[in-house]
Amino acid sequence: MNKKITVIKGDGIGPEIVTQAQVVLDKVCEKFGHTFEYTDILMGGCSIDACGVPLTDEAVATAKAADAVLLGAIGGNTSTSPWYKLEPSLRPEAGLLKIRKELGLFANLRPALLYDELKDACPLREEVADKGFDMMMMRELTGGLYFGKRETKTVDGVETAIDTLEYNENEIRRIAIKGFDIAMKRRKKVTSVDKANVLDSSRLWRKVVNEVAKDYPEVELEHMLVDNCAMQLVRDPAQFDVVLTENMFGDILSDEAAMVSGSLGMLASASLNETKFGMYEPSHGSAPDIAGKDLANPIATIISAAMMLRFSFDMDKEADAIESAVKQVLKEGYRTGDIMSEGMKKVGCKEMGALIAERI
Ligand code: IPM
Ligand code: MG
Repeated sequence: MNKKITVIKGDGIGPEIVTQAQVVLDKVCEKFGHTFEYTDILMGGCSIDACGVPLTDEAVATAKAADAVLLGAIGGNTSTSPWYKLEPSLRPEAGLLKIRKELGLFANLRPALLYDELKDACPLREEVADKGFDMMMMRELTGGLYFGKRETKTVDGVETAIDTLEYNENEIRRIAIKGFDIAMKRRKKVTSVDKANVLDSSRLWRKVVNEVAKDYPEVELEHMLVDNCAMQLVRDPAQFDVVLTENMFGDILSDEAAMVSGSLGMLASASLNETKFGMYEPSHGSAPDIAGKDLANPIATIISAAMMLRFSFDMDKEADAIESAVKQVLKEGYRTGDIMSEGMKKVGCKEMGALIAERI
């Protein structure tokens, strides 16, 4: 098969981790007889430096013409980088919000799981870690507070800021359907997370999720308040299969779930629209402090590339090959610094990519 991939290397460790994902993808092409055509675009701080804005319309058009987008990470150090002196709509993160909106990527999937080989990295008590966990955080990505009307103004001499949390039933329904569809391919349980004891948007969320659930009689649905969910994630993460939630709750809870797994450098993510198109990126950020030092863990990006093959290109065998190569390398004891433990073999970003590619 021939596929067009738009590549966004981004800032910080972005270029080095994406390069290793491409090494692995090239090996997949060779082994399975595919061709991937890459086109690079700029987004984030590098785009601000080169074009004055975090994402140009031409870059968006290039991404739209592709079959999928592979992204590294964007942004810099928020207290020292000059990018953060700019107004919010011109900062690196605005590029990410813009591309999500422009490409209609409303469904964000962030698998959070505990790798058997990395159980020691889990910060939870041993008896909790021993049970293991494997959940799919599903976050609505183009609505809610991050896209609502906002303003800062002076009211009766007092500086006042307003953000708006708005959802309509269609936005809720389409992410709920995706959530239930994915649950059908997993352990058939959906935990819908909201704050229905306070928020109108959450009450609508709950109502629509209940309606969608009627079409999935095999899936067990439970509702959980977001504050309780934050506790349950550290108390008993094994209870979760698909966690379905709105934009801001998902932003926060997906970081918590990642932390609980103890290996942020291992976690991938996919952002999908209504078609097969998607943008794939690691769940972690651009780690500017270790950029360019060959210290970064490329595995999250490599697994994101595997998700791209599975979800956007229907290449299940190829995705399986990448995932087993990753497991194999871990089993053989190779570790980047972030997941290093005693007795293991420490390798850099480049070597990790090469080791995984060799095992495909
Ligand atoms: C994420 C990030 C972004 C978000 C930021 C960088 C805008 O935190 O992908 O979770 O909040 O969506
Ligand atoms: Mg976040």
